[in-house]
Amino acid sequence: MTESISRIEGKRRVLEVGPGTGPFTKAILRKLRAGDQFDLVEINEKFCRLLEREVLGPYRARHPNVIVRLHCAPIEDAPLSGPYDVIVCGLPFNNFPPKLMRSIFRRMFALLAPRGEVVYFEYAGVRVIKGPVSNSAGRAQLKRIDTIGKTLRRKHEGKTKLVLGNFPPAIAYRLKAAKSETKTAAKTAAKRA
Ligand SMILES: C[S@@+](CC[C@H](N)C(=O)[O-])C[C@H]1O[C@@H](n2cnc3c(N)ncnc32)[C@H](O)[C@@H]1O
Repeated sequence: MTESISRIEGKRRVLEVGPGTGPFTKAILRKLRAGDQFDLVEINEKFCRLLEREVLGPYRARHPNVIVRLHCAPIEDAPLSGPYDVIVCGLPFNNFPPKLMRSIFRRMFALLAPRGEVVYFEYAGVRVIKGPVSNSAGRAQLKRIDTIGKTLRRKHEGKTKLVLGNFPPAIAYRLKAAKSETKTAAKTAAKRA
């Protein structure tokens, strides 16, 4: 989930969406260097307080040259300004309404640098397991989520990695900015310059 960060040279801007109690956060922090910027967006106030106290506060005290900011807000309207080189997303999309999943990906791609990557994951076979115990509306929703994921991976040159060592096994998806979005982001960057 965090391996793209190491491939970027120079100063990096990283966004984590839905850090929860911080398993990916800790891996991201280990990769950051002086001059990097790391924003996190978490909707749950309890997790925000825990993250700040246990992970982010102590990290900032030891690494004053890395900018780390936690936004306790939903990604849909958190006050963020891109572009980010890597966006690590831990949201459980199989539990989300399809419309919300689409709008969250729209927001993440709007915040992504032209050569950046959005990385997200799901547990392997989650829809196969959930399908039989869902009602017909639930199954229709899972199908729409599957379709949105496939469309995103087609449009954004998606790379898939099955992680059997995780329990339960998980699939990490790595998506690039779409070509048209890359051009728009490059124009915006040129205008800003
Ligand atoms: C499944 S947890 C993932 C936590 C962690 N990344 C992990 O793998 O253990 C998803 C987290 O996303 C947060 N979340 C859900 N919807 C969100 C939203 N719209 N914006 C930001 N965070 C959200 C939840 O509060 C929760 O902490």
